[in-house]
Amino acid sequence: MMNIPVFKPNLTDNEINAAVEALRLGWLGPGSYVQEFEKKIAEYIGVDEKKVVAVNTGTSAVHLSLVLSGVGEGDEVITPSFNNIADFHAIKMLGAHPIFCDIFEDTLTINPEAIESLITKKTKAIICIDFGTSLCDYDAIKKIADKYNVSIIHDAAHAFGSKYKGQMVGSFSDICTFSFDPVKNITCIDGGAVIVKSLEFAQRLRAMRQLGQQQNQEILYKNERSWTYDVSEIGFRYHLANLHGAIGVQQMKRIEFIKMQRQRVCNFYTKTLKNLDGLALPHVDNEIFPFIYVVRVQNGKRQDFINYMKTHGVDTGIHWQPGHKFSFLKNEGAGPLVITDKISEEIVTLPTYPDLTDEELFKVISVIKSFFTG
Ligand SMILES: Cc1ncc(COP(=O)(O)O)c(C=O)c1O
Repeated sequence: MMNIPVFKPNLTDNEINAAVEALRLGWLGPGSYVQEFEKKIAEYIGVDEKKVVAVNTGTSAVHLSLVLSGVGEGDEVITPSFNNIADFHAIKMLGAHPIFCDIFEDTLTINPEAIESLITKKTKAIICIDFGTSLCDYDAIKKIADKYNVSIIHDAAHAFGSKYKGQMVGSFSDICTFSFDPVKNITCIDGGAVIVKSLEFAQRLRAMRQLGQQQNQEILYKNERSWTYDVSEIGFRYHLANLHGAIGVQQMKRIEFIKMQRQRVCNFYTKTLKNLDGLALPHVDNEIFPFIYVVRVQNGKRQDFINYMKTHGVDTGIHWQPGHKFSFLKNEGAGPLVITDKISEEIVTLPTYPDLTDEELFKVISVIKSFFTG
């Protein structure tokens, strides 16, 4: 029998039929389905559809956001070392440097006071991220960013559909990015989006995602193209294709179900795993649409735990190894990373996906309990 995996996408015939339809349409580039997907996201989050720009990955979303923020050669970007490698590459692609910042021990999100101590004349931007079942303290980070006049990129790859202080994530940040990769809250197979406050930024993003071509979007969204356009700045081949847009539209139609199922899994873990000696449960925000459920196995027992789970039929994951430990990034600047160093030896991701059955959940729980209670 196969192990219970860490991730499994929730796909139905709706997504499969939509993909077939999009292929039959014969317009494979960006077009009507991309517009429909952007509209659905805009409605869901409660923002102007013109300010939602779909792209091909969450990594490109962060890269383009850094370009919008004017990040370039030699600039510094403060980011948690406890972040996805995608963000570090996005910074390095621009010749800039990540400056690794520590996190809070409860939420595992960036510590605003630590950010302030890392600000220099070269600081151009801050990347803050939401993690697993916790949202970053955007208001506190924004205060610091405003005080020093630096940009914030809110990487909400984990938090699509969540609310921070009652507001939808994506509706309040200057620049907010999402990922719709195969394992995220919703998937386009691969995809991402940037939501911006300024229409000018949105216009630039629409050109930049298509090699800088300032094509008439209304024509493009009718599955046609204009053959003449200007190119006034750098661009990349980062557009979302119609096929992926079509799948995203179907996921958006089922989003409440997917959200409920993910919440069910996390609530189950929180309720049933309390009071196990040597196991710390994550902070869970009230209005979270959870991506992954990350526990901490203490007392140097993580590898034993991972091995035990695997041999008893349950796969687990590690999100993430911190940035400053990679050979590629070891010479980048950093503040003290005491909490990052501590928790990165303890974190373990439990299976978190909508289709986990109650039976499978009981199995995961019983294997965990037997590890801790012997
Ligand atoms: C916090 C964070 N940012 C960015 C990304 C990159 O997104 P994508 O895989 O769509 O390129 C990820 C992917 O897991 C992520 O977790």
